Amino acid sequence: MRILKSSFAVVERRAEHAAKYFYTHLFWHNPGIRELFPASSEDMQRQRDRLFAALTHVIAHLENETLLPYLRDLGRDHRKFLASPEHYAAVGASLIAALQEASADAWSPQVEKAWGQAYQVIADAMMAGAASSEDPPWWDAEVQRHLLYGQDIAVLRLRPHAPFPYLPGQYTSVSSERVPTTWRTYSIGNAPRADGTIDLHVSRIEHGRMSTALVRDARPGDVLRLGAAGGQLTFRRGDRPVSFIAAGTGWAPIRAMLEELAGRPPDQDVRLFVVARDAAHLYDRPLIDECAAAFDWLSVTYLTPAPGRHRNQATDRLATALSNRGLWPDQDVYLSGPPRFIEETSYLVEELGARPGRIFYDSGPALGRGDGRDDGQDDGRGQDPRDRPMGFGEWFLNRPDPHWHNPSGRAPREY
Ligand SMILES: Cc1cc2nc3c(=O)[nH]c(=O)nc-3n(C[C@H](O)[C@H](O)[C@H](O)COP(=O)(O)OP(=O)(O)OC[C@H]3O[C@@H](n4cnc5c(N)ncnc54)[C@H](O)[C@@H]3O)c2cc1C
Ligand code: HEM
Repeated sequence: MRILKSSFAVVERRAEHAAKYFYTHLFWHNPGIRELFPASSEDMQRQRDRLFAALTHVIAHLENETLLPYLRDLGRDHRKFLASPEHYAAVGASLIAALQEASADAWSPQVEKAWGQAYQVIADAMMAGAASSEDPPWWDAEVQRHLLYGQDIAVLRLRPHAPFPYLPGQYTSVSSERVPTTWRTYSIGNAPRADGTIDLHVSRIEHGRMSTALVRDARPGDVLRLGAAGGQLTFRRGDRPVSFIAAGTGWAPIRAMLEELAGRPPDQDVRLFVVARDAAHLYDRPLIDECAAAFDWLSVTYLTPAPGRHRNQATDRLATALSNRGLWPDQDVYLSGPPRFIEETSYLVEELGARPGRIFYDSGPALGRGDGRDDGQDDGRGQDPRDRPMGFGEWFLNRPDPHWHNPSGRAPREY
């Protein structure tokens, strides 16, 4: 263990080089594996980051008993990438080659042995998880209905071909033939229904591959693939009052949890804060208003930008609205929305007195830096703004033109 940690400290300093070497080695020696990975170079850059995030995590937790169940789930989920035992052997060989390359003089037979053993423990756990899972590698699900709100938000109703188990508040990963070998995470927007259908609420991101395919191009009859449901944003029953804070399509998992509560009303009060940057992002307002009128345990506050506000005033506005409602130390707080929204809002509610252990949110399936809501970190080093998720203030105030197709109303367009 000590050998591994000190070797990793050496490799970490040259992580980017090691990761590039790893993939070049892997694809050169196993050309067939290349087509299992996303074609886009941006996705591959993300994948490179993930590999090292995964390795760091695994090494830091090798002695932790939670690692084994995590690895088994990761292996089960890797079946959707078509990973086979031969691939694990190939990945192991390329990993050792890359670590040796990055370690230079610090490499020795003992170091090689320690890495080889650690990799085998990890790969064995993943392959065991894959072999023992009774779930299918993925669920085919047909698009049954596609509702477009404005130009950039769609709610897709999917009918999985086989029963798809999940809990309200969880997410699934999605792949479409329109964007081959690319998987993205979307929250499920409803509690389980008798007919087994599920809704995904998708917000299109400028230049976003999957979100554009799902919002603009997907049509009823398309078949998507769904990965096993995951995530910890599920409702904890108890006697503490609850605050749900949702921004944009972050409303989806909150809606699923509210549907669950509507079926079995809670004893405690529930406050819902809906943060939306424009009318298109308040796409479910009629339903939310109905719920507010129907349930005496529910109160709703909408938060939309005031005209002419400046970017960093958005956070002030959110802070004011949240502090006006008070009682934060008592609350269980559930957050859902873009990554920077979660980051800023969890900080805000903590400042207002919420207890850190009682603030719940999901940042994604991957280790550390992953896809989607927590990808493309803004590290302030002057990247192209398109290469990172928007900050909360930008998201809140940069209102895209809604382009209503029915200018007199807010009816969605159905395909
Ligand atoms: C747990 C979890 C749940 C999620 N649930 C939902 C959901 O219910 N509905 C939903 O619409 N999305 C959800 N997402 C986000 C989703 O997974 C995708 O990241 C998103 O749709 C973008 O994918 P893409 O392929 O379109 O964009 P990509 O092709 O991956 O990205 C294109 C460009 O946009 C940048 N970018 C990525 N994300 C953002 C962003 N948020 N804002 C601005 N720029 C960005 C990238 O850095 C890149 O430069 C969730 C993410 C996570 C982790
Ligand atoms: C011990 C070995 C491995 C570890 C620790 C590991 C770890 C990871 C992690 C953490 C992710 C991101 C999680 C996610 O998106 O759900 C990932 C994605 C992926 N892995 Fe692995 N993996 C391993 C082996 C393999 C093997 C053998 C293959 C063979 C094909 C593979 C193919 C992929 C693919 C295709 C992706 C998705 C890439 C993307 O969407 O950008 N992995 N891996």
